[in-house]
Amino acid sequence: MNEQQKKQMTINLEPSSADKKSGQKKDYGVYFQTTFTQPSLKEAKRRGKEDVQVHYDFDIPEDMRGLGKGRKFLVRTYGCQMNEHDSENMAGILLDMGFEPTTQTEEADVILLNTCAIRENAENKVFGEIGHLKPLKTEKPGLIIGVCGCMSQEESVVNKILKKHQHVDLIFGTHNIHRLPFLLKDAIFNKEMVIEVWSKEGDIIENMPRARRGQLQGWVNIMYGCDKFCTYCIVPYTRGKERSRLPEDIIAEVRDLARLGYKEITLLGQNVNAYGKDFDDMNYGLGDLMDEIRKIDIPRIRFTTSHPRDFDDRLIEVLAKGGNLVEHIHLPVQSGNTEILKLMARKYTREQYIELANKIKEKIPNSTLTTDIIVGFPNETEEQFADTLSLMKEMEFDSAYTYIYSPREGTPAAGMEDNVPLEVKRDRLQRLNDVINELSALKNKQLEGKIVEVLVEGESKKNPEILSGRTRTNKMVNFAGDKSIIGEIVYVKIIEAKTWSLNGQVVENVEVKV
Ligand code: SAH
Ligand code: SF4
Ligand code: F3S
Repeated sequence: MNEQQKKQMTINLEPSSADKKSGQKKDYGVYFQTTFTQPSLKEAKRRGKEDVQVHYDFDIPEDMRGLGKGRKFLVRTYGCQMNEHDSENMAGILLDMGFEPTTQTEEADVILLNTCAIRENAENKVFGEIGHLKPLKTEKPGLIIGVCGCMSQEESVVNKILKKHQHVDLIFGTHNIHRLPFLLKDAIFNKEMVIEVWSKEGDIIENMPRARRGQLQGWVNIMYGCDKFCTYCIVPYTRGKERSRLPEDIIAEVRDLARLGYKEITLLGQNVNAYGKDFDDMNYGLGDLMDEIRKIDIPRIRFTTSHPRDFDDRLIEVLAKGGNLVEHIHLPVQSGNTEILKLMARKYTREQYIELANKIKEKIPNSTLTTDIIVGFPNETEEQFADTLSLMKEMEFDSAYTYIYSPREGTPAAGMEDNVPLEVKRDRLQRLNDVINELSALKNKQLEGKIVEVLVEGESKKNPEILSGRTRTNKMVNFAGDKSIIGEIVYVKIIEAKTWSLNGQVVENVEVKV
């Protein structure tokens, strides 16, 4: 039997539902000793009371440490910062296994696609890439192609890969990244498709190795999962229930990054304002955490993403202390219409959002608000959409990420009838973007002549003669300067405002800062 036939037979073997749930390594006969645990969105929806354990004993067994010797890896990331950060963990594990990194697809012996399920086009991109990799796999049968991240948590995706993309070697999910050494070993030696996806969230694994993308800006997870279940969103299914890391572990990580010379930390979670709500034994929230982190000697602390519902006064009071806590708040509103917000299960009204945003603006000096919007939610009327436009103008957001609603199988909204044609949705998106661009340009214009604090990130992507960096409020600034100031915080006078960026000149003596 050749390799292809063997694989074919494994794929045709449908494990029983008990097998799917067991999470055990399965023995499908001499050729098929491999891991086969498929996801279930239904199971992922359940929120149990069981305690989440924190583990500090992650280790890579000795026989797996040399596995990557002479082999190269590439991790390609789609989706949000959470995924980017998970990719840093995967890269850390692969480096500890002896693999070397490469940016060239043709050179790689292991390619991991860390995927995003948030919208259909995100998924289409990944399926396109899986298709592109097929000729390379034929040319190089030893190549291991792995699919991980949020898409792996969906049974429809795993079934499609099983049916149409048999050149994939490994599928694992968001809850078992720490199992990568075992799964990879299995995929390399068994030559069978290895599938291990846990529908139930796992424990918190504290000490996984991590290869960070740079030495200037670092991500720090403060919590995992989401319990909000907005009716359009797949994340609560792909990331499991809310689990907060212990404050001492987060603080130790931020301190380490400060010692290593990092200048900016972004605290990560799907809904960071829910931080601490899962602690039974203490009353400790994001405000308390930020109040401790602000004492660490690191120039900038950001956090993303906050949900308006849990944004409490304690957090506002702490953020108002300023210092290294930057005055940029990303506060997704999704729609300006209360009825649509209700159908989305966002659990706030337009008025409540406005009240909160105004409180933030009033209490936190010079604060900048940005947001996310979904247009074309099922049956959204022109009047309801007009409420979104008017909210944009009323709140004067500095910028916004805007999306056309994309039905996600298994979510409540996907079952709603929808009478809004795609062309109408596209037109609304265009009109919304026009308003937002106008606002961004206006807001940027107000900075002309002002002096801003900039963290110099590197050469500008468009022109290597120019440097670029970001303000505390996350605006991109381009300016001439010596490369030796890359990684420093400098002050820049804004000369010219554009819609999405600012041009300026470095200044030495600073009196007025924004
Ligand atoms: N946890 C974050 C959101 C993460 S997803 C929060 O609640 O703020 C990022 C954004 O993607 C969301 O804010 C929303 O605007 C958009 N999004 C999520 N699901 C979507 C869907 N099904 N269709 C279109 N956009 C969606
Ligand atoms: Fe999705 Fe809502 Fe959770 Fe954000 S808060 S991840 S939009 S369910
Ligand atoms: Fe996408 Fe998963 Fe992030 S669905 S947006 S990668 S949490």
